Amino acid sequence: MKKNARVDLETRGDSGIAPAVAEVPPDPANAASRIRSSSPIQAATTARSTHWQIRDIDFDAIDFAAARTDETLLAIVASASMIEFASDIYTANLVQYYSTDSEVGDWLTRHWEPEELQHGRALRAYIGRVWPSFDWERTFKSFVEDYSNYCVVEELGPTPALEMAARCVVETGTATLYRAIHEYAREPVLRDIVRRIGEDEVGHFKHFYRYFKKYQDREKLNRYKIAKTLLGRVAEVRRDDAACAFRHVFTGRFPEFADDSSRLQSWTGDIYRMFKQHYPYPMAAKMLLAPLDLPPKLKPWIGTPLACTVRLIMWGRL
Ligand SMILES: [Fe+2]
Ligand SMILES: [Fe+2]
Repeated sequence: MKKNARVDLETRGDSGIAPAVAEVPPDPANAASRIRSSSPIQAATTARSTHWQIRDIDFDAIDFAAARTDETLLAIVASASMIEFASDIYTANLVQYYSTDSEVGDWLTRHWEPEELQHGRALRAYIGRVWPSFDWERTFKSFVEDYSNYCVVEELGPTPALEMAARCVVETGTATLYRAIHEYAREPVLRDIVRRIGEDEVGHFKHFYRYFKKYQDREKLNRYKIAKTLLGRVAEVRRDDAACAFRHVFTGRFPEFADDSSRLQSWTGDIYRMFKQHYPYPMAAKMLLAPLDLPPKLKPWIGTPLACTVRLIMWGRL
């Protein structure tokens, strides 16, 4: 199996409701399908009833003058919306990978995937209002065609614990991204959206971290192996996820410069400059170091150099 992408804009519609679980045909070999067929819509609805919904966002309160002054920020939001919208590719891979763990499969399909897709819908709805000239749908189609090549089961971690550690990195990346946007943005509705999403991402991190510990109790991996996975995934997030989304948003915005790599480089340079200034480094370091479970005495000796290495990888210096 190479690709798992489901480019289905209809089922990802802007309604604020997750794609109906009952529409997915049950597959007895698949943990997610077992969960879906045992207690279909009611459990998912109950579990999500306390979570925020798209309708909670007051899009009428958008300050258009503030929103439209910064196209770099809009490009970041558009890029994030696409990565979030493509979350179902990852869910399918992860559910397949953890097919013998019904607790993980249950949480991925009932909570994680609906929340990630909702993030995509909220950001897309915002972009649709403040940046109407940007062809989101066409750009997303080209993005997901490209992005699905990176999202394959074969790319997942070599052991269940290491994949959970890698998931902690991805959630650290999103939680800190939204914190940086919240810090930087002045437009109130965008700030409200990224605050809600950022809180969800921290919650996702906590779940993946708990599952990491569950598997680590069995696998008892040494810190070197875990650190190698963490650093490897930081590089992948930058090289694959972010770079892929930025490239497609750039092409969507400037089709006439689609093949101009130096212009793309300078455009993404503006994005990284914004992040460097507003990136919550202490938050990132704390989250990334958690899976290493360092004793307090070792933290300054290992934690600080590792955090510096992460910083260099993130900004493309390693
Ligand atoms: Fe998300
Ligand atoms: Fe997340």
